[in-house]
Amino acid sequence: MSQIKNTQVLFMENPQGYPEPNKSIVHDNSHTIDPDTIPLDGGFLLKTLVVSIDPYIRTLMRFVYKRGEVIFNYGVAVVIRTEHSGVKVGDHVYGLLPFQKYSIIPHVSQIGSFRILKNEEKLPWSAYVGMVGMPGQTAYSGWREYANLQKGDVVYVSSAAGPIGSFVVHLAKEAGCKVIASAGSEAKLKFLRDIGVDVVFNYKTEDMTEVLKKEGPINLYWDNVGGETLDKAFACAAQGATFILCGMISTWNEAPPVMNNMGYIALNQLNVHGFTITYLLPKYEKEFYDVVPNWIASGKIKCLEEKRNGLEHASQAVYDVQVGNHTGKCVLVVSEGP
Ligand SMILES: NC(=O)c1ccc[n+]([C@@H]2O[C@H](COP(=O)([O-])OP(=O)(O)OC[C@H]3O[C@@H](n4cnc5c(N)ncnc54)[C@H](OP(=O)(O)O)[C@@H]3O)[C@@H](O)[C@H]2O)c1
Repeated sequence: MSQIKNTQVLFMENPQGYPEPNKSIVHDNSHTIDPDTIPLDGGFLLKTLVVSIDPYIRTLMRFVYKRGEVIFNYGVAVVIRTEHSGVKVGDHVYGLLPFQKYSIIPHVSQIGSFRILKNEEKLPWSAYVGMVGMPGQTAYSGWREYANLQKGDVVYVSSAAGPIGSFVVHLAKEAGCKVIASAGSEAKLKFLRDIGVDVVFNYKTEDMTEVLKKEGPINLYWDNVGGETLDKAFACAAQGATFILCGMISTWNEAPPVMNNMGYIALNQLNVHGFTITYLLPKYEKEFYDVVPNWIASGKIKCLEEKRNGLEHASQAVYDVQVGNHTGKCVLVVSEGP
């Protein structure tokens, strides 16, 4: 093979509001690579198959990505050359990957930061950045750690049609709960009805407080959005209800609202837990990979997925995930592969 393009996705700026496509993040076609001859220096060469477009990329833009550098997130890649004893050609690995087609992982890097995927269930590789990746780990671990429910309890899940929300919906239904779920489009509501949600509503057009007062009070709120939604939920909770604060997407691109209902935390002795998956994962990772791939393969847990082709669509996809212009787990296909 001779020199070929190695398209990259670069970070340009942390915007004031929403990350305008092709401004905060841009793609760059100026780099080339010869995958057959580029020196590996004891490391290995990966061809990226899929990368995940997650809401927290907005947080990485604020705190982590460096101007002019290639952005990164979770992805699946295949090893195409190696001088590293920890991997062999044809292995598929999951981990944090730069948004570029080919990447050299230097010898100094710990192979331990990647998980070699056996994929005995023959799932599509995209599943490993969705329900069997970081979003699924978040739902599974947060639920195992904090959800303490009785059959018949009422659970409310916001942004329920995304990978985390729909995973939680399945767990709540399995626990015998009444599930109320919200999302922002008819396609998302239809999916939620299809997976057995008892009460669905569009938070953009319906009054959330009215729905929760009528169908609640809620015993557990799985919060994927924060802000006004969280504030209103405090006022609709039963005595001793559990709040699991998973995501705050509503506050990342717009100023957070004044919270009026925090007094209910004391008044109703609410149990409020915030968490990030980084801290919970070591406790649940083995159990997660022992059970969840099978749940996905058997169809016990279902999730919508939206695939987009090519790194040149990364910037638009990052924006769309912030505003909800996607349905289900958003995955960027970088290369077709075995
Ligand atoms: N704690 C952790 O460790 C952890 C790990 C991963 C993710 N998270 C968080 O968990 C949440 C869900 O993640 P996910 O991967 O499953 O993504 P997701 O729910 O598929 O995507 C985010 C969705 O949020 C909705 N949204 C955006 N602004 C909103 C607003 N102001 N009010 C209500 N909904 C709004 C949009 O859908 P609509 O069409 O419904 O508006 C958007 O599609 C995110 O907040 C994410 O940051 C937390």
